Amino acid sequence: MAIIIVATHGGNSGTRATDDKPVLTEQDVNPPKLFQPLTIGNLVLRNRIVIAPMCQYSAVDGCMTDWHLIHLGHLALSGAALLTIEASAVVPEGRISWADVGLYDDATEAAIGRTLESIRRWSDMPIAIQLAHAGRKASTEVPWIGGGQIAPSDPHGWQTEAPSAIPFEKEQCTPTELGRDRMIAVREAFVASAKRAARLGIDAVQLHAAHGYLLHEFLSPLSNQRTDEYGGNLENRMRFPLEIFDAVRDAFPSERPVTVRVSGTDWVEGGWDIEQTVAFAEALEARGCSAIHVSSGGLHPAQAIPVGPGYQVPLARSVKQATSMPVIAVGLITDYDQAESIVGTGDADIIALARAILYDPRWPWHAAAHLGANVNAPPQYLRSQPMRFRHLFDE
Ligand SMILES: Cc1cc2nc3c(=O)[nH]c(=O)nc-3n(C[C@H](O)[C@H](O)[C@H](O)COP(=O)(O)O)c2cc1C
Repeated sequence: MAIIIVATHGGNSGTRATDDKPVLTEQDVNPPKLFQPLTIGNLVLRNRIVIAPMCQYSAVDGCMTDWHLIHLGHLALSGAALLTIEASAVVPEGRISWADVGLYDDATEAAIGRTLESIRRWSDMPIAIQLAHAGRKASTEVPWIGGGQIAPSDPHGWQTEAPSAIPFEKEQCTPTELGRDRMIAVREAFVASAKRAARLGIDAVQLHAAHGYLLHEFLSPLSNQRTDEYGGNLENRMRFPLEIFDAVRDAFPSERPVTVRVSGTDWVEGGWDIEQTVAFAEALEARGCSAIHVSSGGLHPAQAIPVGPGYQVPLARSVKQATSMPVIAVGLITDYDQAESIVGTGDADIIALARAILYDPRWPWHAAAHLGANVNAPPQYLRSQPMRFRHLFDE
C-alpha cells in the first residue's frame, strides 16, 4: 500500500485516508524526539526539556520567599518535563551569597515546603533540587550589586572553605583548607539535606559538582593541591565527590533519581578536562548515578570559553558516547530545531534550559508548536491554544 508523506507544521493531524492510500504527516513517520517521554527510575519525564537550576538570590536566611513561589510557580506551567530548584546550600557557609536558598535546618525545609505545597496544588510537573556547597566561591554579594566576594568581617560575609587554601582570585580571601573532620561534616550535611528533600517529596536530587563550587574544586587539579588521599591523582581527586554521591544515594529513596551536574572542562590548560569528566561519569554510573548533566567552566578566572550556540554539546556527546545513563546537555540552547537535533542525533538524551526559559517561559509550548508535537498546559490556559495549532494541548 502506498504511503504519501506530507509535511505539516503545528498539529498532529494524524493519518488522513483517501481511498486505500493513508496519508502520513512527517511527524507520524518521525515524531520529534524532543517530545518523546523518558523514564529515569520512577521519574517519568513527559518530554526531553528540563529547567536548569537557577539561583535567584532572593532568600532570607536561607529561606525561600514569595519570589520563589512566583518564579518556580510560573516555570511549573511551562510544559517542561522537570523543574530543578536552584543551588540549595547544605550548610549556611555553602551558600554562594547571603541571599541563597538553603536546605540545612527546619526553617529552610519548611520554607521550601510552603513553596512546593502551593506549586503542587496547580502543577504536576516533577521537581528536582540541586544540592550544593559553594566552597571557595561562597560569601558573595548578590549579582545585581556586583557579585563580589564579601570578607568574613563584613556583616553579610563568612569564612569560606575549600579543598586547598587557594582563593579563586588572588585578591580574594583565602579559604580554609577542609580537614578530615570538616569533610565528614560536609558529607553528612549533604546526607541530611537529601533526607529533607525526600521528606519534602522532591522527585530527584542533583548534586552540584560543576561551576567551580566545592565538589568541582575537589575534582580539578587547579583548586585541589592536597597531599592526602583526596588530592593528587585523578582517583584521589574524585574520592570526596564520589563519597558524597554514595552517601546521598544511600540516603535518598532508591526509586528516586540522584543525578550529578559536572563541568566537562575548566577551559584552562592543565585543569579538569573532558577525559577526566568521562572517567568521573563512568565512576558515577558504576555507583548508580541516574543521569549526568554536562555544563562547563567556573573554576578558574583564566578560563577561555568558546561561547556560542550549543557550545557545551560536544562535552555532553563525549560523556554520552562513554556511558549509558541519560545525559543532559545545556548551554545556549535556544532554538527549537537546535534542541531537536541535539536529542534527535543522540548527542544527549535531554536538553536543559536556563536563560531561554526565563526569557520565554512558554518555550516548550512554542517548541511543540514549531515541531508539530503536543505539550502539557494547565486547564485554565487551554483556551489560549492558537487556531492554527489545533492539537497543541492534546497531550
Ligand atoms: C540566573 C541564573 C542562575 C543560575 N543559577 C545556577 C544554579 O543555581 N546552579 C547551577 O548549576 N547553574 C546555575 N546557572 C547556570 C545555568 O543553570 C545554565 O547552566 C547556564 O545558564 C547555561 O544555560 P543557558 O544558556 O540555557 O542559560 C544559573 C544561570 C542563570 C542565568
